[in-house]
Amino acid sequence: MGAGITGNIAVLTGAGISKESGLDTFRDADGLWSKVSLEDYATPEGFARDPVKVQAFYNERRRGMAGGNIRPNAAHEALAKLEAEWPGEVVVITQNIDDLHGRAGTKNLIHMHGELFKVRCDACKAVSERRGDVAVDEVCGECGAAGAMRPHVVWFGEMPFDMDRIYEALDACELFMSIGTSGNVYPAAGFVQHVRFKGGIHSVELNLEPSEGASQFAETVYGPATEVVPEYVERLLSGR
Ligand code: APR
Repeated sequence: MGAGITGNIAVLTGAGISKESGLDTFRDADGLWSKVSLEDYATPEGFARDPVKVQAFYNERRRGMAGGNIRPNAAHEALAKLEAEWPGEVVVITQNIDDLHGRAGTKNLIHMHGELFKVRCDACKAVSERRGDVAVDEVCGECGAAGAMRPHVVWFGEMPFDMDRIYEALDACELFMSIGTSGNVYPAAGFVQHVRFKGGIHSVELNLEPSEGASQFAETVYGPATEVVPEYVERLLSGR
């Protein structure tokens, strides 16, 4: 149980926390990787093979998310409340490229797999906000290179962002919460092992069903994120 915890909290989130906002997960039966090929759409090699196809895929996802129907849910909101009311530091480390944590009010947020609403120039590495489509032959406003713009997301085989900051937050926490992630993708899947090895850190998995790493958590709570996350946050805030 979370009772007695007063120190910092590190929260890892995955696609499951955004499922009830209307966004597909990746590995559930109706998940994204059952519909499209991960090798084609989520690797640097796939992008090099067919940039037109890959840009169109991310343009479509960007449009879908910007459409106005996708909103933060009670789980995103509960984590924002936790950050606002908790006496220690709360950091949310998300694997999600959606903007729902930020829109719910989470401020101490690390997008380790990048952000759908950002693009990066591969030539000069400049990162910029982007709500609309990216054209394959687009010219970079910073360096003038043509055709070097790509989604600012981390593909398989690439290094996630902010790993130093993430391990600092994990080392400094008293509670590690993992929410809505299947535990298939490293390095995120290894965070529970990291905190266990460090010792003195309570770990809890909140997920619809046991993840790959479920047995490594000290505590597990199963159910939809919009139910189990607000409940767990209320318990923490009331010291139960
Ligand atoms: N509430 C809580 N958990 C849920 C819900 C829900 N409503 N719906 C689904 N889940 C759980 C599933 O049971 C599953 O364990 O969320 C998890 C989603 O797992 P994945 O689809 O594998 O997503 P994730 O773990 O975030 O994937 C990691 O893989 O392809 C990449 O870059 C992509 O960041 C992503 C990474």
